[in-house]
This record gives sequence, structure tokens and C-alpha cells, in this order.
Amino acid sequence: MKKELATREDIEFLVHEFYQIVFKDELIGYIFTEVVEVDWEAHFPVMYDFWESVLFGTGSYRGNPMLKHIDLNRIEALPEAYFDRWIEQWENAVTTHFQGVKAEEAIAKAKSMKALMLYKIAQSNNPNFIQ
Ligand code: HEM
Repeated sequence: MKKELATREDIEFLVHEFYQIVFKDELIGYIFTEVVEVDWEAHFPVMYDFWESVLFGTGSYRGNPMLKHIDLNRIEALPEAYFDRWIEQWENAVTTHFQGVKAEEAIAKAKSMKALMLYKIAQSNNPNFIQ
């Protein structure tokens, strides 16, 4: 029986699992390991805060993920296929370990963020784009 996604500890476990897989992904892994220089161990708490805010409304995350990915797309193009792979890996990580309402919400929220990111990235290529 899989677990409900219910606590900060569950999120920490899930995010960690997800990135271990994504870093090794043959399509998108290089973005995380070669394109950006991020100290991921230091960056993970930001991701925990993000997911905790999205799923449990804690408000602990204060960043702007849209802007991050618009900037990233300017350094290295992020086509839709990359987002599809990201979602596929996220969905795998979630469903391998968790079940229930919050697990489903984690997948649904990621998919809607993907749609919004793709939209914003397309908009950002417009010369009249205002961030
Ligand atoms: C093509 C797919 C994606 C790639 C390659 C990607 C890559 C990255 C990278 C490299 C960073 C670190 C940026 C930095 O700190 O310099 C990052 C941060 C982040 N990503 Fe993504 N990402 C993707 C899709 C998504 C999706 C779909 C979500 C939504 C759930 C997401 C949520 C975040 C968040 C919340 C951060 C932290 C932003 C912050 O520091 O405030 N990413 N991403």
C-alpha cells in the first residue's frame, strides 16, 4: 500500500527522489548538471518550500518560478518535449511512492505550471513582452 502525501518529510523524500532521476535523464538531465550551476543540495529546501506551499498552503515559498524558467529558456531553449519529460518523471516519482488526493494534486499542479510556463516562454519571445 502506497503512502498518502501528507507531510514536509514526504515532500522532501519525493523531491529528492525526483531530482536523482531527472539529473540522469538522457533528454533533460544536462540542463540541471551542465547548463545551470546550481548547488542543488542548497537549492532543495527551496523546492520543498515550493511544494509545501502548493500542496499545503504554507506560504513558505516566495520565489517566482515563471521568471526563473523564462531566464533559463534564454540560456538554453526549453521545448515542449522537455516539459513533457519533466512531467513524465514527476508523475513516475509521485505514483511510485504515493497515492491519494495530495499525490494527484501534485501531478495536476505540475501539469498546469507546465502549461503556464510554456505560455509565458512563448510570450517572452514577443518583443513587446513585459515581465
Ligand atoms: C523543461 C522542464 C524544466 C526544466 C529543464 C527545469 C529546470 C530548472 C532549473 C535548472 C532550475 C534552477 C534554476 C536556478 O536556480 O538557477 C529550476 C528551478 C525551479 N523549477 Fe524548474 N524546470 C522545468 C520545469 C518545471 C516545472 C514544470 C515546474 C513546476 C512544478 C518547475 C518548478 C521549479 C521551481 C519551483 C524552481 C525553483 C525556482 C526558485 O528558485 O525560486 N520546473 N528548474
